Amino acid sequence: MTKQVIGLAVGAAMVLAFAAIGVARDKDKEEDKDVVEARKDVLDVLKAVEDGKGDKDLADKADAIKKKDVELNNLMRVFKLKEKGGLGFGEKPDDKSGMEAKIIELSRTERGPAKEKLKKESKDLIKLAQLNIAMAEIGKPHFPGNKGGKTKKDWEKWFDDQKQAAKELIEAVKKEDGKAVAKAAKDLLSTCTDCHADFRKN
Ligand code: HEC
Repeated sequence: MTKQVIGLAVGAAMVLAFAAIGVARDKDKEEDKDVVEARKDVLDVLKAVEDGKGDKDLADKADAIKKKDVELNNLMRVFKLKEKGGLGFGEKPDDKSGMEAKIIELSRTERGPAKEKLKKESKDLIKLAQLNIAMAEIGKPHFPGNKGGKTKKDWEKWFDDQKQAAKELIEAVKKEDGKAVAKAAKDLLSTCTDCHADFRKN
């Protein structure tokens, strides 16, 4: 083989190798893209909740998201730790923080967080509650069909309960009432676990 031919062969091999890496990268990106899109959709509904939009507006947005075939799992991801693709908790969320983790933390004791802590976190806690109001609306159109004797009625009731508990959480935070915060967080958490027990596959 002449030097030129070897050079060509090496060049061609490199082009192929880079092409393969490129394909692998694109595949990763594709998954991320769905998650990023879903997060955008959730944040859009959260903004509507923050702006005081009524249930009808929220339900219309939720229907539009469902029509785009966004997966419920990708939408629910907002609850996970920041490092796992969730929103995280707080104004500048730590990688290890997450909305679900925060709900669990709040529900852990009967007396709930101290007044000082509630004061400090009030804005972030209200955002957490508003996220739950948004998610309750977003989740509703995603009914996957009856499972284990549970029906659409159960599905919708859990989301209604989630919304109710979230509203109670907002009231409790505004009153700086730690005990009521803990109670609302506990109620909130049971809507997650009750629905997941029947409807979540993994
Ligand atoms: C009425 C039903 C229902 C309620 C209420 C509900 N979820 Fe889910 N959630 C689901 C289903 C169904 C899935 C799985 C979707 C799938 O796999 O397609 C899921 C998935 C998840 C996931 C997995 C996301 C991922 O990326 O793997 C998380 C996290 C989650 N939910 C958190 C919560 C939290 C926190 C709450 C309560 C504050 C909650 N969910 C309330 C039905 C519900």
